[in-house]
Amino acid sequence: DALSKDGFAHYMLKEIHEQPTAVANTIAGRLYNDQVCKYFIDEPIADILKKVKNIHIIACGTSYHAGLVARYWLEAITQIPTQVEIASEYRYRKPVVPDDTLFLTISQSGETADSLAALRFAKTAGYLSTFAVCNVANSSLDRETDVCFLTHAGPEIGVASTKALTTQLTVLALLTLKLAEIKGVDPAVRTNLAKQLRTLPGIINQSLMLNDQIEVIARQIVRRDHALFLGRGVHYPIALEGALKLKEISYIHAEGYPAGELKHGPLALVDENMPVIAVCPNDELLEKLESNIEEVRARGGELYAFVDHKSKHGLANRVNHLIELEASGSFTSPIVFNVPLQLLSYHVAVLRGTDVDQPRNLAKSVTVE
Ligand code: G6P
Repeated sequence: DALSKDGFAHYMLKEIHEQPTAVANTIAGRLYNDQVCKYFIDEPIADILKKVKNIHIIACGTSYHAGLVARYWLEAITQIPTQVEIASEYRYRKPVVPDDTLFLTISQSGETADSLAALRFAKTAGYLSTFAVCNVANSSLDRETDVCFLTHAGPEIGVASTKALTTQLTVLALLTLKLAEIKGVDPAVRTNLAKQLRTLPGIINQSLMLNDQIEVIARQIVRRDHALFLGRGVHYPIALEGALKLKEISYIHAEGYPAGELKHGPLALVDENMPVIAVCPNDELLEKLESNIEEVRARGGELYAFVDHKSKHGLANRVNHLIELEASGSFTSPIVFNVPLQLLSYHVAVLRGTDVDQPRNLAKSVTVE
């Protein structure tokens, strides 16, 4: 039953645990033989996608972070130039819209005032078409956009978004895969991406099993006033999301930073009272990230690293705490690494006694400007 807590202490914890099912439901019927089904992207939609030369993604809050991840995927895999912007900024400037640009809104609720205003502007601005990724059928966004891809996360009650983001990323991954088909990307690459998506629910399940370990580190962070989240590449938006989640529900001041930018400012904040939480998958930026982590270590920062079985070796001697995740493929890795960060914020908030599902001053859906 979507509206009960099913024995969980909070909706947020329930929704975190629903993610394997939510992802499976979001993929169901949309991927077959490693190809994106026509049921999901039919001929008329594919015809629009064939023309796309640029993509403008607009969203707010956690949905904006989904867009930031998608930009890394879309540009790296399909070479389609992609911009991502916060709706409340976009709607008040005068954006240039090149020919054949697709407008894409991401919103859990489909009712966020700034995102809807951006869409209404886009409809007058000469875009090729307007697409959306949304969790609520028949919402204003679903009704007003040309094409809406629904996430099948089920109702999300906790104000801090968890399963909605995971399913948004799942849909955006499917869209990337479809564009890769259209662009004639190497079939071996596409098969690998599809395989990663199919195994995603199982890998998220493994991440959830880290719950008890994460609760232990939450006990160490709970009395801190600040926290710094670091990531690089496609995991940089995951660092931003980790920081957003922590500040939303625990009221600890947190910032997400691209690790390479550390020495341009945030390093000045690092001392033994600053927990630094690093997202460290084994990817092509690992070596760079290791040297960024070394910079933090030299200043006495308390380092928590989320690693996989390959990246852990280079980090074991450099950080205070290692949390090892099941290795996923590099495509779905940001989705997988986000899950333990959700659990971390959750446990810190519970230990601080805040109202986890309804944090002060925030609303589930911001329907006024
Ligand atoms: C509010 C919520 C966030 C959400 C954001 C965008 O701030 O508290 O969790 O990410 O709105 O909402 P949307 O429904 O457009 O994704």
